[in-house]
Amino acid sequence: MRTGQYTRRAFLETTVTAGATLALVRTWSPMAFLWSAPQAADSRIEILLNEPIGRIAPEIYGHFIEHLGGVIYDGVWVGEDSKIPNIGGIRRALVEAMREIKPGVVRWPGGCFADAYDWRDGIGPRQRRPRRTNFWVDNREWRDVGIVPQKYEPNHFGTHEFIRFCRLIGAQPYIAANLRTLPASVFHQWIEYCNSPPGSTTWAEVREANGDREPFNVRYWGVGNESWGCGGNFTPEEYAAEFRRFTTWAVPDYGVGLRFIAAGPSGRDLEWTRRFFAKIAERRAFDRLWGWALHHYSSFSGGEAVNYDATGWYELLQSADLMESLITAHWQVMGESDRQRRVRLVVDEWGAWYRMTTNLHPTHLFGQQSTIRDAVLAGLTLDTFNRHADKVAMANVAQLINCLHSLFLAHEEKFVRTPTYYVFAMYADHQEGQAVRAIFSAPRASWTDRNGRPQSFWGLNGSASVKENVVTLTVTNPHLSEARTTEIFIRGAAIASARATILTARRLQDCNTFEHPRAVVPREEDVPIRAPVVVYSFPPASVTKLRLVLS
Ligand code: AHR
Repeated sequence: MRTGQYTRRAFLETTVTAGATLALVRTWSPMAFLWSAPQAADSRIEILLNEPIGRIAPEIYGHFIEHLGGVIYDGVWVGEDSKIPNIGGIRRALVEAMREIKPGVVRWPGGCFADAYDWRDGIGPRQRRPRRTNFWVDNREWRDVGIVPQKYEPNHFGTHEFIRFCRLIGAQPYIAANLRTLPASVFHQWIEYCNSPPGSTTWAEVREANGDREPFNVRYWGVGNESWGCGGNFTPEEYAAEFRRFTTWAVPDYGVGLRFIAAGPSGRDLEWTRRFFAKIAERRAFDRLWGWALHHYSSFSGGEAVNYDATGWYELLQSADLMESLITAHWQVMGESDRQRRVRLVVDEWGAWYRMTTNLHPTHLFGQQSTIRDAVLAGLTLDTFNRHADKVAMANVAQLINCLHSLFLAHEEKFVRTPTYYVFAMYADHQEGQAVRAIFSAPRASWTDRNGRPQSFWGLNGSASVKENVVTLTVTNPHLSEARTTEIFIRGAAIASARATILTARRLQDCNTFEHPRAVVPREEDVPIRAPVVVYSFPPASVTKLRLVLS
């Protein structure tokens, strides 16, 4: 499971001191940005309106919640009787914040948890639902912490609660089904429970008795998760046979237009893709395969969320930037068998994965803080998806709250939005836009790696999309100390006005805490037009959105 320079297994094998997990890290070594904006333009962005790439699916701006640590319990679900403001048990502050960023889709209930979950445990009166051992109970990072409630799944958050959460925030549900420990029939019953018309089947009646007469119309169904690992340790050939067994013919559609997503590779495992696709082609089973789920977590050799140096900054971004070549490489391999290009990529887990030293509470397995580095990582990754809008149909950052690369941190009544949240807010304008090609030219950022070798990274990158007479241009500047003064042209149109939204930080280690919730937030400014160009200086270590209105 190598992702970037550091393995996920290495993270999982690091031990955690209980004291360090009890509070946010407060003793960062400050590393202030030292920079001054150069006067003359040294960079250029050209937007080519006549080179469309594809429609940017709202599902690219997707999220992921798993029954893992503090994601569901203490994160999304606080319970109806809680003193924490809630809507039917769901944290109200989370719902309000999510509505602002127009989430396209939410994936649930895992992750690895999905292949241990029986959906029938999560329906019916809450106080009568069974308590089960959570998949993550024996995780090494939890082992030394003792007994924590989240190791035992109370099933208070089940299918109805998930659907209610999706409806409250305006997102489509994406359910990952259990392929490892339950038979296909139980998967089909779950679909029937969610989607069969009122009164039509016994499962529709049970759904109604449990409070929802109208069907949930769940369109996206994952068939297992990481089936090469926690999802069953299958070979690609074995998994292809399972996937066909779970999805062929027998699954009724109920007019929903079901979209099945198969468990794709981890990172650069092209063999998993090649061999699975070859098996699907052999049985001509592409009609049931809508999406191919790629997972890629970014990491670096230091592994710390907040205490990192310049090398840690660039190494992590370099690891995230692998997404570009992962998409093109897997896409090429998929095309060897899927000649008609029926299947789309679904990057249903992505984000930064650090050592667990900044989690808010010992129950928050894999909880981590988020800095401007995570915001730049999110920006460059979302830009990558936009640039491949013809290939990527969905993506889900892992995970929404109290976990890896989260948009929110919460504990009891405390709640804060991370810098990554603001990137999603800024990028929401891209949704349903037409992605167009943009050419970025900028001096490369250079640094020295831990072995003393010189390294370099692109100087500016981003994506552009068009909706009516507005172009949304998003740009990341990865340089730690240099602004990039940039001339921006739109080929085939003139710019009437421009407004910028900029996210950066005073110091690399700045993050939003309960005590200082607005340490890293975006600011806005008008940008003067110097026809025919806009000249804009992108600050170092920043994510910027430019809203360009065409005349
Ligand atoms: O997001 C955490 C875990 O990472 C997921 O459960 C699993 O799919 C992946 O290995």
